[in-house]
Amino acid sequence: MDRVVPQDAARLLRDARRVVVFTGAGMSAESGVPTFRDDLTGLWARFDAQQLATAEAFHADPDLVWGWYEWRRSRVRRAAPNPGHLAVAAIQARVPQATVVTQNVDDLHERAGTRAPIHLHGSLFAPRCVAAAAHPASFPDAEDGDAPEPGEGRRIPPPRCVSCRALVRPGVVWFGEALPEAALTAAVDAAAGCDVLLTVGTSGVVYPAAEVPRIAARSGAAVIQVNPVPTPLDRVAAVNLRGTAAEVLPALVASAFEATEAS
Ligand code: OAD
Repeated sequence: MDRVVPQDAARLLRDARRVVVFTGAGMSAESGVPTFRDDLTGLWARFDAQQLATAEAFHADPDLVWGWYEWRRSRVRRAAPNPGHLAVAAIQARVPQATVVTQNVDDLHERAGTRAPIHLHGSLFAPRCVAAAAHPASFPDAEDGDAPEPGEGRRIPPPRCVSCRALVRPGVVWFGEALPEAALTAAVDAAAGCDVLLTVGTSGVVYPAAEVPRIAARSGAAVIQVNPVPTPLDRVAAVNLRGTAAEVLPALVASAFEATEAS
């Protein structure tokens, strides 16, 4: 792999006033959170999305689905942000206007110090009542770390809504569901108005999220892609940085900002 960050990418980032960082599962891979589509380790290579990530699946077998999301939530709770997440927060701290748009349902951007990331696909940490969006919902366990970690295949009954006794469901977007409207609008607006969009660790095949970098490119922004392998976004990107998020992003930040600060 070429470890040298091409100067074009560093210059584009240094000169930009409005930046969007668009992230996918590869962003968190080096924190130990599995991606979806990598051949051997991706979640969709090991699990059937139709049985776990649809409203129909939850209706048919809520304990199976809730248990699977509790397993994923416990993995994320034990994970820590990697140097790539820290580099994204550093970009936000240095660029006049930087918006982080993520497809990830983990909270690693927040824990790295990113302000107000837009979660296009919801969050593992925002359960909600299936019957009424306005009803407050929370996890039954206090997040004190004493509860046993849910195993990978463990069935766990979902909690009941304290207001109406309906089931509580994971606060993620499932296949066939609409994205949260405000999040999608904010992401599209940011993409349409940015100078540079940095896309990190996404296969770029799940719509409408995958439109975000394409909207930026059509609106005249330079797209920089960070991914160890080619993706359909290669054609959209002005610069393709082949490498991992934790390797490439800190080097990109150093090259874009630290050299100029030292001089
Ligand atoms: P994918 O699993 O489809 O793609 C992950 C991408 O990350 C691939 O292109 C990998 O090559 C790349 N990658 C792997 N390790 C990396 C690393 N260390 N650094 C940088 N890149 C790396 O994940 P997403 O594109 O996020 O939807 O998938 C999009 C959506 O599909 C997800 O949000 C989820 C899933 O179904 C919902 O849950 C609604």
